[in-house]
Parts: sequence; C-alpha cells; structure tokens
Amino acid sequence: MAVEAGRDIAPAKGKLGVMLVGLGAVSTTFIAGVETVRRGRGSPIGSLSQMGTIRLGKRTEKRSPKIKEFVPLADLKDLVFTAWDPIPDDAYTAAVKAGVLDRHEHLEPIKDFLQGIKPLPAAFDQYYVKRLQGTNVKRGKTKRELAEQLREDIRSFRKTAGVSRVVIVWCASTEVFITPGPVHQSLAAFEKAMEQDDPAIAPSMLYAYAALMENVPFANGAPNLTVDIPALQHLAEERKLPIGGKDFKTGQTMMKTVLAPAFKARMLGLAGWYSTNILGNRDGEVLDDPESFKTKEESKLGVLEYILQPDQYPELYGNVFHKVRINYYPPRGDNKEGWDNIDIFGWLGYPMQIKVDFLCRDSILAAPIVLDLALFFDLAQRARLSGIQEWLSFYFKSPQTAPGLYPEHDLFIQQTKLKNTLRWLMGEEQITHLGIEYYEKA
Ligand SMILES: NC(=O)c1ccc[n+]([C@@H]2O[C@H](COP(=O)([O-])OP(=O)(O)OC[C@H]3O[C@@H](n4cnc5c(N)ncnc54)[C@H](O)[C@@H]3O)[C@@H](O)[C@H]2O)c1
Repeated sequence: MAVEAGRDIAPAKGKLGVMLVGLGAVSTTFIAGVETVRRGRGSPIGSLSQMGTIRLGKRTEKRSPKIKEFVPLADLKDLVFTAWDPIPDDAYTAAVKAGVLDRHEHLEPIKDFLQGIKPLPAAFDQYYVKRLQGTNVKRGKTKRELAEQLREDIRSFRKTAGVSRVVIVWCASTEVFITPGPVHQSLAAFEKAMEQDDPAIAPSMLYAYAALMENVPFANGAPNLTVDIPALQHLAEERKLPIGGKDFKTGQTMMKTVLAPAFKARMLGLAGWYSTNILGNRDGEVLDDPESFKTKEESKLGVLEYILQPDQYPELYGNVFHKVRINYYPPRGDNKEGWDNIDIFGWLGYPMQIKVDFLCRDSILAAPIVLDLALFFDLAQRARLSGIQEWLSFYFKSPQTAPGLYPEHDLFIQQTKLKNTLRWLMGEEQITHLGIEYYEKA
C-alpha cells in the first residue's frame, strides 16, 4: 500500500551517456560487461540494480519486484560510453592489457564495439599519479583552461552521441594524498586557485567541476578528495546535482564492513586486524607509490573506527591495532589476494582468531558497482536529489556525508538505507522490521 505520493521522477527517456574518467581495468571490464549482457552472452552478476529485488509492504503481501522494474532506471540498451585517459589505447587494447576478461570468450566477440571507444585526451599531471606517464593529455595555460576543455568534451559528447543525459564516474587512478585547505572552501577560492594553478587542485577536481558546470552528476570511485570539499558540494547543491564518493567498496573492505558489525552485534572484543593485499595490475603499481598509497590507506582504515565506536565500548574496542598494506606483486595481475588476520576476544577475555583469504578479482567486483552508480546517479538527478547521496554509501569504502555526520559503514545498514530511499522515492512504506503486527492481532 502506498503511504505517500512519492517523488516526482522524470522518466528515463532517451540515451544515457556514461563518461568514465580512466579507461583502465575497471572501466573496460564494466563497458565490455554491459555490452556482453546486452548481446545476451552474459549475466550482470554483482549488480543490485539489475539482479536485486525489493520487498514492499508486509511480508504477507508477497510483493518483491525487481529493483529495475520498481524504479525508473535507464535500460542497459540505452547506455552510451566514452572515456578520458592519458594512455591512448582504445577500450579493446586497454582491456587486453588489463587482462581481466578472457580475450577469446569475452573480448573478441565485441572487438569492433570496444575499438570504437577511444579515450579523449585527459586532464593529467604526473605530479598527482607518480607511476604513470601519459601522452594523450590536454594542454592548457592554466588548470582553469583544462577544466573548460573538459566542459567542451561533455558538450560535444552530448551532441555527437545524441544522449539526453550524462553521468560521470571516476574510474581513474588514485591520486596523491591531499587534505582540504582554504582553496577548497568556496567556489570563488576554488576558481581562483584553478587560474593560479594551485597544487591543491588535483585533476580529479577539474573533472568534477566540469561535470557540475555542465549539469552532470559525478561519482568518485577512487579515494581522492575530489568532490569531498565544500566548494564543489555547494556547487552541486546550488545546481541541484547529485555527487558522491569515495572509493568503490569491493573486496577486503566489503568483507570488513560485514564482519566488524557482526563482532559488535555480539559484543565480541577486537584486539587487532591486520589486512594485507597483493595485486599486480596497474592500480597496484600506482598504489606502490607511497603518496597514492596514503590516500588509499586513509580510505581503508576509517571503517573500523566508525563501525566499532571505541568511545562507547572502550573495553571492547578501545585498543585495536589496525594495519592495512597493499603490495604490488605483478604475477597476480588483477587477481588480488586480500588476506586478513583478525584477533578477537570473547567471554572473560579469551582470545580467538579469524583468517580471511579472499582470492578475488578486483575489476570483476568493481564493474557492477560502476553500473549501479551510473544508473542510480542518473535516477537521483531525475528525482532532483542534490548534493551528497548518502543512500549510495553502500557502494563506497569511505562514504561522503553531510558536515557533522559520521559515515555509516555497516554494509547492511547501507543496504537498508538504499532500499528505504527507493521505497521513499516511489511512495512506498518504509520497512522497519518491527513485525509486531503479525503477532498482536486486534
Ligand atoms: N578494482 C577495484 O576493486 C577497485 C576498488 C576501489 C577503488 N578502485 C579504484 O578505481 C580506480 C581504477 O582502478 P583500475 O584497476 O581500473 O586502475 P587502472 O590503473 O587499470 O586504470 C586507471 C586508469 O586511469 C587513468 N588515469 C590516471 N589519471 C587520469 C586522469 N587524470 N584522467 C584520466 N585518466 C586517468 C590511467 O591512465 C589508467 O588507465 C583506481 O583509482 C582504483 O584505486 C578500484
């Protein structure tokens, strides 16, 4: 039973342009995956928007439509892709080099399609990603000029691809660690800093600025500061545009945000959590630089503190030793191994250990997240949701929140928040899980 009118959502009419910053392992796995699904040769496993259902009303009503049938999402057939990258490889060459998808089974059948996606010159500066060198880069006198060139790219993509809406997802490398400073506080200071080539303005911020100035939602899949600054948050709110980040929550952190809430739910203590990773893709190489690693480390470290609330439970979580390492190990390519040693303690303080050894595939986990973010950010724009989209925290390791709010990291709270937001958008009752009405009948 509908309880309120819901939100007025513009229909998903016409084509949706998905502009990806970066055409590396994640982007090519995403694009090739969508095309493979469109041709009926694969299944979008891992995508909540495509495979998930949503319960509506009472359990006895037995209403559980697929999410994509419940909310007006863009259809996969309507997605059109483009990307920017400082490396000039087209999507086919980049996918072959990334070595994620099987060349014969998944890339050859869509070779022409992938070869048609050639990266636009990037706003790139090696100062921010030390381990990369790029030739396919924009030239401009100032950062402001680069941002204007990015805006022109968006406008011309709209025209040439004939898309009615655009979303941008950052799938490019992790930049060096930057802390918010005075130039990030207001739009005027930000624009002045672009003109003065201030080092506090990273390339990712230029893309985000360009997106917002062109009325395009922006999602940040890396831990970079990017849109997590007041200047761009205000711009997004003013222009009624959704933004969000940071850092796709895929392997090890996803597991962490499942296990840590379980320990807390059962009031089990935690003495230490040692997480290490070996991976050998280009992302691993970039993260081998200590400055880029620092950005990633901050993003990965935050989750336990917020989930466990050591202030409230000093006896259980007041002295946790939390360590995260990422080691570049080329033989593994994209097939990361994330290994966790967890020291917990129970009744009367007796110690126990848990080991998690996740032999995952980084980009296979990330690709469906890119898809869901593109579709949900487009939905958010059509529903006039503006500023930080906290309901999409589900997808991020280090979710952005309104000032003064702590981020919600628990995967299942995030899932509930996401689904309740969809119910709210469509005027359906919130699910509280109280359930007393099934037992106390009038
Ligand atoms: N795969 C995962 O599970 C996962 C999870 C969380 C976050 N991420 C993040 O997603 C991003 C992409 O990962 P990946 O494995 O595809 O990496 P990748 O190295 O294969 O691809 C990144 C691409 O971005 C390009 N790039 C760098 N700076 C750019 C700029 N300024 N403009 C345009 N392009 C630029 C690089 O040339 C490269 O081709 C990384 O930041 C990574 O940390 C990945």
